[in-house]
Amino acid sequence: MFQGLRWHLLVSYLMVMAAILSLFGTGVYVFVSRNVYLQLDKKLLTLAQAAASSFGEVEAKGSQYLEQVDAVPWRDIFNRDQQSLEWFDAKGKLLASRGALALTERPKVGPHTLERKQKPRQIRTYTISVFKDGSNPHQPSLEGYIRASQSTEDVKIVQNQLLWGLGTGGIIALGLVSLGGLWLTQKAVEPVEKSFKQLKQFTADASHELRSPLTAIKASVEVMRNHPERIHPKDAKKLAAIASATAQMSHLAEDLLFLARTDATVLTSMGEQIPIPLNKVLQDLLELLEPFAQDKEINLESELLTNISVMGNEIQLTRLFANLLENAIQYTLPGGTVMVILSKQNRFAIVNVKDTGIGIEREHLPLVFDRFWRADKARSRREGGTGLGLAIAQAIAQRHGGKITVTSKVGVGSCFQVRLPVIS
Ligand SMILES: Nc1ncnc2c1ncn2[C@@H]1O[C@H](COP(=O)(O)OP(=O)(O)O)[C@@H](O)[C@H]1O
Ligand SMILES: [Mg+2]
Repeated sequence: MFQGLRWHLLVSYLMVMAAILSLFGTGVYVFVSRNVYLQLDKKLLTLAQAAASSFGEVEAKGSQYLEQVDAVPWRDIFNRDQQSLEWFDAKGKLLASRGALALTERPKVGPHTLERKQKPRQIRTYTISVFKDGSNPHQPSLEGYIRASQSTEDVKIVQNQLLWGLGTGGIIALGLVSLGGLWLTQKAVEPVEKSFKQLKQFTADASHELRSPLTAIKASVEVMRNHPERIHPKDAKKLAAIASATAQMSHLAEDLLFLARTDATVLTSMGEQIPIPLNKVLQDLLELLEPFAQDKEINLESELLTNISVMGNEIQLTRLFANLLENAIQYTLPGGTVMVILSKQNRFAIVNVKDTGIGIEREHLPLVFDRFWRADKARSRREGGTGLGLAIAQAIAQRHGGKITVTSKVGVGSCFQVRLPVIS
């Protein structure tokens, strides 16, 4: 139970942490990428500006000038294998160019990214306008454009490294967070587990302590009822009510004690474990309950395969099936049918307890095995039930390595199925 809670907490915690980490990672990635691009743009702008002073010469002599002069001002910052410089006239016609990138696109002022089919696939360009010297500063006359370009390969490499770094860092962080989460959930569940344990202990102690006074009351009432002549006729009814209420309370105390003990000892001290022939257990029970069913005008039918035995405790198994059969009879209207089928499937004994009763609403099905849960109808219909019967049946089935499932339809009937491993 707490294992499940712990996992649930851990998974939620990890999910929150993963969301925070990926948000953080995305933020870092976007920020760094933007910065790298800004730096590239700055570099290209500087290059274009350095080349601007030579515009007049390029315009006059064309690329001849570029070949002659090796003392051009951009020489130190220009990498001709990765970058390009181009000079355009005011109409956008190429005057001269230098560098490895052969661009065909027309110049567009400002920073731009060009996508191409051939390599390099992506090029960042920065184009500046060049104005004539001495022109009117309010209405400068355009002389031409200079475009500096560079492949974005370096930027992509930085981005890839960043992605890898963030990915590995994120996975390592998540691993550490899981370790921390394991510790945290352990700490968080500890007090809950402790108080739950105390609660169970309290239930066990309380139901145990209730037993002796109840036994005393029961015995005294029994003695009084054995001497009816001593009782005033007016008190006889009250005495009967006391007897019935006492019986009900002892039943409740026994059930609670049983569940508390099951909680305390998961699989140990199951009592004597011997092979139990299931058909015999069920046959005996059917005989015991027959008068009860006849009273309610309910047909009790059975189909029991012989020679199916399970390892376990006969008293507990009898209790399991008694609880299921009593329910089937309780919650079926007169004229209905209750049927018990014992069969075998692979290495499991299957017991189906079917009825044509009032059924259970679909949303209540997951609740029927909860302690003290009873449908409102059951509460009003029958006094004496405690809502512990199915919880006990389930606990017994689990202790025997089996389980109970239920299918039901309102107004049609219910079927409780018990699966128990047979002796191989
Ligand atoms: N065969 C059944 N048909 C319809 N409802 C059932 C059946 N068995 C159990 N239930 C529902 O499940 C509830 C819990 O059953 P149980 O634990 O045996 O408690 P109790 O019988 O004391 O009320 C019942 O109150 C009833 O509402
Ligand atoms: Mg019951």
